[in-house]
Amino acid sequence: MNESSHLPPSCDSALLASILALAPLSVIGWDSSNRIVIWNAEAERMLGWVASDVLGKSAPFPMVEMADGDRPREITRSTRVGGIAQLSVQLQHISHDAASAAIVEIGTDLGDRKRLERQVVQGVKLDAVSRLAGGIAHDFNNILAAIKCSCELLSESLEPDDARTVDVRAISDASARAAELTRRLLAFTRQQVLLPHTVDLNAVARDAESMLIGITGDGVALTLDLTSEQIHVRADSTQIEQALIHLVVNSRESTPAGGRITLSTGMGPLERDPTGGEVPIIAASYGWLTVGDTGRGIPRELHGRIFEPFFTTKERGTGTGLGLSAVFGIVKQSGGYIFVQSEVGRGASFTIYLPLVAAPAKPPRVVHYERTSSGSTPTILLVEDETTLRGLMRRILERSGYTVLEAAHGAQALEKCELHEGAIDLVVSDIEMPTMGGREMAQRMRMLRPNSQLLFVSGFTDDEAMRQGIVSTGSAYLQKPFAPALLVAKIAEMLKAPVGKLELPAL
Ligand SMILES: Nc1ncnc2c1ncn2[C@@H]1O[C@H](COP(=O)(O)OP(=O)(O)O)[C@@H](O)[C@H]1O
Ligand SMILES: [Mg+2]
Repeated sequence: MNESSHLPPSCDSALLASILALAPLSVIGWDSSNRIVIWNAEAERMLGWVASDVLGKSAPFPMVEMADGDRPREITRSTRVGGIAQLSVQLQHISHDAASAAIVEIGTDLGDRKRLERQVVQGVKLDAVSRLAGGIAHDFNNILAAIKCSCELLSESLEPDDARTVDVRAISDASARAAELTRRLLAFTRQQVLLPHTVDLNAVARDAESMLIGITGDGVALTLDLTSEQIHVRADSTQIEQALIHLVVNSRESTPAGGRITLSTGMGPLERDPTGGEVPIIAASYGWLTVGDTGRGIPRELHGRIFEPFFTTKERGTGTGLGLSAVFGIVKQSGGYIFVQSEVGRGASFTIYLPLVAAPAKPPRVVHYERTSSGSTPTILLVEDETTLRGLMRRILERSGYTVLEAAHGAQALEKCELHEGAIDLVVSDIEMPTMGGREMAQRMRMLRPNSQLLFVSGFTDDEAMRQGIVSTGSAYLQKPFAPALLVAKIAEMLKAPVGKLELPAL
């Protein structure tokens, strides 16, 4: 016994036994013939064997070598049910009473700490990738928007039978594909601007059915297995639809020889990772949506990697590895979870969980705009830091008959607002800009120009409040890179609304 331990003179085995039973450490003792003679409650909790299983026998796991010194060592040990316990152990020779115990091992459970460590490392990794991807996506969106605008202007200047129209279309199509990739990357970073509302998951599934059948094509049957009652969650339905498309495309690709894809829904409480994994869950009631297939399945060791951006098992040129990472980002940004269950040769199923909300889905607000009677050409203030893109947007707007004022960032836009004497009917603004971003500009502009409408045109924002602000006020928003025609249509629609009816977002 260690000199620094003190026990009362009357200390008996009953007292020792209760100390062992209460200790938050595993205590295992071996006698000189390597038979277990001490096995406390914590050892049972960590490793699974009860005392009667092991006492008087040799240990059901390899003994830890007695190394020089008795510093704590981290080890892993198989548990009774075939799991792995991670513990830090310290050994002690007991020399004075070899009959009762020759070696005592004291162990601390490291499982929780290790789990947290893994979650932190994974979180840091994802954060770094997200930041990188977000930065790239932001710049790419501006470049792609410029390409799209240029194509539009170019194709208008060509005669319809000009052979170069084909080339312009090729550029335009290629930039559309690049925009789609950027969009997926952005989805993964969770920096997309979502427009969530209360939706019924069954309705989302039903509305997407015919499009999904179009994706699956012949040879693969798509069936819907939906609950009879509505499942209300708060989400951006177009994003959930995107997620469904990515999942169904993957299922289709995993069933090259034909098979079945099932889309099912349900709801109920969720308290822990349903796949037995380590994902921490906020216990609540969730609605769920599963895409299951009869395809080739996914090896267990890949389950943790398939959601990583650019992870693909497909041949170069076929897979981008951005489908599942986009789905993951969309689900996470919506406050939900996604889990995979799959074995090789037995198909795969992906389940998205989203927190249930009580409010029933409101029918979409239909606004009937009235034409304003003002005969003058509306004035638009264009706020965009990317010079090329701003110039192109200006040309597109001027071509549509608007008077255009320009500003390179929020502060300059406010200056224009103060100096310009006439009305500014609408402000088209980026969100992420140097000097002053869209958020602060909008707040100040509300006082300067309460009647000006505001349309945000942006690829992403890492300003959470801004994302929420756009969402909560329903203020106008257009995803970058946009088709020029869409920008013009959106502006025309907004300007048809009675002046002063649409408010700037309350940010
Ligand atoms: N339903 C599925 N069945 C089998 N494997 C799948 C399924 N869904 C995803 N996977 C695996 O996950 C990987 C990543 O998917 P994803 O992110 O969509 O990228 P990509 O489809 O471009 O490879 C795929 O390459 C594939 O190995
Ligand atoms: Mg895919």
